[in-house]
Amino acid sequence: MHLTRLALTNFRIFSRLDLQLPKRVILLSGSNAQGKTTILEAIAYLANFSSFTASSDRQLLNFNLSPQPQLVGRIVGEYQRGIRTHTLEVRFIQEYNGNPSAPRFRKEVLLDGVKKPLGELYGQFNAVTLLPQMIRIVEGSPSDRRQYLDEVLSQVEPGYARHLANYNKALSQRNALLKNLSERGGDVRQLEAWDGMLSEHGAQIMHARIQALQELESLVLPIHQQLTRQSEVLRLAYQPAYEPLPAPKGQLALPVQTSLDRSGINAKEIDEGLHKALHAAYRQDISRGMTTLGPHRDEFRFLSNRIDLGDYGSRGQARTAMLSLKFAEVQWMHAKTGEWPVLLLDEIMAELDPQRRQDLLQVLNDVEQAFLTSTDPELFTQEFRSRHEVWQLQDGIVFLSPIS
Ligand SMILES: Nc1ncnc2c1ncn2[C@@H]1O[C@H](COP(=O)(O)OP(=O)(O)OP(=O)(O)O)[C@@H](O)[C@H]1O
Ligand SMILES: [Mg+2]
Repeated sequence: MHLTRLALTNFRIFSRLDLQLPKRVILLSGSNAQGKTTILEAIAYLANFSSFTASSDRQLLNFNLSPQPQLVGRIVGEYQRGIRTHTLEVRFIQEYNGNPSAPRFRKEVLLDGVKKPLGELYGQFNAVTLLPQMIRIVEGSPSDRRQYLDEVLSQVEPGYARHLANYNKALSQRNALLKNLSERGGDVRQLEAWDGMLSEHGAQIMHARIQALQELESLVLPIHQQLTRQSEVLRLAYQPAYEPLPAPKGQLALPVQTSLDRSGINAKEIDEGLHKALHAAYRQDISRGMTTLGPHRDEFRFLSNRIDLGDYGSRGQARTAMLSLKFAEVQWMHAKTGEWPVLLLDEIMAELDPQRRQDLLQVLNDVEQAFLTSTDPELFTQEFRSRHEVWQLQDGIVFLSPIS
């Protein structure tokens, strides 16, 4: 798939931008603070409906706008998927409603002109994003990795985003009840209703994560071997907070960091097992005032030659693992959806050695459309620059050919 048009209104630095986009590789070049990453952020928003940098959507509205009763920011993306064209429009609306110190903020998303709930919009437009800070997927906290899995799965697995939303809703209700029970006491049987919801949606989430990690691992293995010139074998080791596999006889706990084959387990088995495990953990959960089991506490680790890269990997090793994962993600999305995702690469070239730059440029041949940013177009060969589009950004204005 590819974007044919991107229009931004009051989105960060862009008061107004309207670009017709070719089905090609587009290099956005320009000095610092000209709006390069912002364009990638806007495109990625159409796939994830959240920003990869902002902690809140409010930050996305242009902050130079003078106060008015209503301020509206917009991302409009027209794209071609197979033979069909579609339009996604995201509106960020800030309204004062008589109280200037506390504006109300909401967002709306329209597909082909019709407002839809977010749950129905994931997967309409697919993008794979690689930013330098995404190295935290390898090196950061378990929640960084869960967030990564949730974002990719929401894009390709129908229903995943809905299960996740329902799970999180049930989880916060159950946690509130646990806190109450721990502080004031009461009938623990009240927990049962939430257990059922948690295990039903949690099982779908875990089942999808098991499949995804297995599929991604089989794709990432040869890619990473190639990127490391056959020196590293990369594994993605799922470590669920609730282990659906029966514990082997004579062994109390499963050893950490083993690649276990959980592909034979179906969602119903996970549902039943998780339900029982939640019940068995009542005492522990009440004393801690929180739910201690379930996919909200899952983890997965990057193991290279059995060494945990998050704990022991060098920067370069972690960065290469990240690159391998993203290349695998592109292929995985293509296999799952039948469409190549739009590839978004922010300042990636500068971090890579010449050999890995070559490998990266190779991947660009696969996809229909890719956006790269760089402050230094000289990092790209003359041949690359003449073959692809090179656009220049200055103060939020895009010049479709390099300015001298
Ligand atoms: N809400 C906002 N309203 C207006 N301008 C904003 C807003 N948020 C960020 N900006 C500004 O937009 C500018 C462009 O930011 P962006 O990150 O897109 O630049 P960039 O071209 O990627 O720069 P770099 O090369 O440093 O990564 C920055 O000066 C930033 O302060
Ligand atoms: Mg940038």
